[in-house]
Parts: sequence; structure tokens; C-alpha cells
Amino acid sequence: MIGKLNHVAIVVPDLTAAAAQYGDTLGASVSDAVDLPGHGVTTVFVELPNTKIELLHPLGENSPIASFLDRNPAGGMHHICLEVDDITNARDRLVEEGARVLGSGEPRIGAHGKPVLFLHPKDFNGTLIELEEV
Ligand code: CO
Repeated sequence: MIGKLNHVAIVVPDLTAAAAQYGDTLGASVSDAVDLPGHGVTTVFVELPNTKIELLHPLGENSPIASFLDRNPAGGMHHICLEVDDITNARDRLVEEGARVLGSGEPRIGAHGKPVLFLHPKDFNGTLIELEEV
């Protein structure tokens, strides 16, 4: 059921500084910053040979990651994103096993234009899991 690690998401206090750190210091290929008002975040994607790092910064007043940054002012790992080939099937199987899906429980379109959903961190060893259909 589970596929590749699509990305690791890190909430950062300073998106420009973080993008420069990955792009200039570490020499990675880094995207421009993209505002996603529907998700309340600004993102920068760092392309690595085998996966991506998604740098996240709060956007707007009701950003879902604002409280994370309050609790973790230096930033921190926010979630990992795993690929699945059929997100509805994966969701149904996980719910059957007792996992909780955040929000409405229905997949929504994520930062890459593909259906995603998030699983409760308490059901996954304290780690927020994003599933993305690819
Ligand atoms: Co993500």
C-alpha cells in the first residue's frame, strides 16, 4: 500500500533564510516561495535526489501551522508525506484499523495539486503523516 517518501515538511521561522541555507550552503535545488492561501502556508520545495524537503511558513491569520511555530520558535519537523496509489482505499483501510483522519476525513487537493489527507499523530508514534495519491 505504502510507496515512496514524497517529502519531509519542516516549519521554519524565516523562509528566506531557510531557503538560502538549503540552496546556497547545502547546494540543493530550491524552488521559489509559493503562497498557498487555501492552506495558510507559504512553501519552498528543496529537491533532493531521492525525495523533497518542504519548508513551510505560516501565511495569514488562521494558518494551521502558526501554533506549531509558537510552540517551536526555532522551527521543527512538522510532517512526513508518504505516497499511496489509491488514497481512498488507503484511508478506508487505516480507519478500519483505528487510525484517525484529520479534518473532514475526505482527501483534499494538496500543495502539489494531488489528493492528500493527514493522519492523527497520536496514532502514528507522535508523527503527523500526510498521504498523497500519486
Ligand atoms: Co506536505
